[in-house]
Amino acid sequence: MTIKNIVYNQSIKFILSGGKGGVGKTSAAGAMAVLSAKSGLRTLVLSTDPAHSLSDSFKQDLSGGEIIPVEGIDNLWGMEISSEKGMQDFQNAMDGGGTEMEMASQLLGSIGDMTPPGSDEAMAFGKILEFLDDMSYDRVIFDTAPTGHTLKLLELPELLDSWLGKVITMRQRLSSTLAGIRAMLGGREQEETAWEMLQQTKEKIKSAKLELQDQEKTQFVIVMIPEAMAVFETQRLLSSLNTWNIPMNNIVVNQLIPENPGCEFCSSRRQMQQRNLVDIRDLYQDIDIVEVPLLNTEIVGIDSLENLGRILIGEDQ
Ligand SMILES: Nc1ncnc2c1ncn2[C@@H]1O[C@H](COP(=O)(O)OP(=O)(O)OP(=O)(O)O)[C@@H](O)[C@H]1O
Ligand SMILES: [Mg+2]
Repeated sequence: MTIKNIVYNQSIKFILSGGKGGVGKTSAAGAMAVLSAKSGLRTLVLSTDPAHSLSDSFKQDLSGGEIIPVEGIDNLWGMEISSEKGMQDFQNAMDGGGTEMEMASQLLGSIGDMTPPGSDEAMAFGKILEFLDDMSYDRVIFDTAPTGHTLKLLELPELLDSWLGKVITMRQRLSSTLAGIRAMLGGREQEETAWEMLQQTKEKIKSAKLELQDQEKTQFVIVMIPEAMAVFETQRLLSSLNTWNIPMNNIVVNQLIPENPGCEFCSSRRQMQQRNLVDIRDLYQDIDIVEVPLLNTEIVGIDSLENLGRILIGEDQ
């Protein structure tokens, strides 16, 4: 399955671009988004990397916390997701309604336990999940954070389960004490709201996990550079993707130095890269590998992203 198959296959709803820092994840996500939109699919490109660069890539401020149309192209919308804002919404709901919960945790002296594990990721992911049922977009493309962060999200249903289990036990133990406190402070209703929010988030994460594991709907595209460090990191990423059953059939080997006999420095770097490329091909024989040259300009703006897209789908002539 080539990147061309993925981009032009309407049933693929989620495309994730991921890899080590600085290798070209955002550029690849932007490039696939431009092709996808130009093919007529209503496309949403989202950055979940806390160190966003989608705005720079599209030369447009996408950090406003809302989905906005990308200028200069039809069918494309974008947003940089702020997990801080998501967390703030959640915290407000907990604070507003958490009187009883807070009191309970103070009584037990274990406030730490009242914070759900990985809650900032959970909230960022919760935002993503809103788009699962959202029929306004045919496709969502994720520019993910460097290796690890995204995959950690997939452990959340289990983590939340055990956390909720603990809280329930705590509630039972304290129920009589709490009945008295509640009578004094009120807040039962708000507590229930916070409680429901947690349950809903958990359910949403579970269904997202299923969607992300469905190879008819999701494809993860790994971006790497032909250098030893990137090879190691790619191995780690691959094994996590395997563990979580996330479909992956493509590796983009980016920033290949072109031939330049007049430049000794370039030639020796090129040689190093070509040696690594042989290893990469050898390691990943079942995976579709696309080579992308190091271009003489940065990849910024729609035209430049489209140009990269053409290279990714093998139509750059
Ligand atoms: N093939 C290429 N040729 C020339 N410049 C490139 C190429 N690929 C990426 N770049 C440039 O390299 C820089 C890093 O690319 P990009 O932002 O896509 O990487 P990233 O993996 O998203 O980085 P980060 O981990 O910081 O988010 C950008 O300035 C981009 O324009
Ligand atoms: Mg990036």
